[in-house]
Amino acid sequence: MKFFIDTANLDQIREAQDLGILDGVTTNPSLMAKEGIKGDENVKNHYKAICDIVDGDVSAEVIATDYEGMIKEGEILAALHPQIVVKVPATRNGIKSIKYLSTKGIRTNCTLVFSVGQALLAAKAGATYVSPFIGRLDDTATDGIDLIYKIADMFSSYNFDTQLLAASVRHTMHIIQCVEAGADVATCPLDAILGLLNHPLTDIGLEKFLSDHKKLNS
Ligand code: G3P
Repeated sequence: MKFFIDTANLDQIREAQDLGILDGVTTNPSLMAKEGIKGDENVKNHYKAICDIVDGDVSAEVIATDYEGMIKEGEILAALHPQIVVKVPATRNGIKSIKYLSTKGIRTNCTLVFSVGQALLAAKAGATYVSPFIGRLDDTATDGIDLIYKIADMFSSYNFDTQLLAASVRHTMHIIQCVEAGADVATCPLDAILGLLNHPLTDIGLEKFLSDHKKLNS
């Protein structure tokens, strides 16, 4: 199970990298906007700055929605750094672009996936990753984790190489559910990752160990 951090915030990316468990980063236009990154050159420089911090894959999303625009942007983004994976939405032009980019050896992440059918087309087009948005499905009273089970099952039945990247992970329990459902990757906010460490018995146990040690050594 790989951990990506879902942010464009450089401090949080550094913090996750320092923890020693980070496998990559996902961003999207909303996350870039949240950091106030605007203008083509600034956006490109920000992607390069992220690549300099982490060792793994960094998803950079295209803005164009037409086929020609998507593949042009995809090629520009991919040329920025070997760690860049081009993020393309699960639309008709997106699937065509994934096919084109994968044929050119450019890695892709199909984003805004909300159904098994979208994941199937993305995998058939050669996507490196597909990103089902589990939190946004939960928001509509539809079980997001159920989609992870279904896509994992489909990928395993047909031996697709495409990696199942659970996105729109909102909290720590989502991460555990993604593990159980067989996701290859979960892209998470830093707090959700750190939440995996929370256990009162660890805190109580450590306190007892330290007080017992102090009794004999003071
Ligand atoms: O990974 C996709 C993510 O950034 C969307 O998350 O919380 O906006 O649904 P959210």
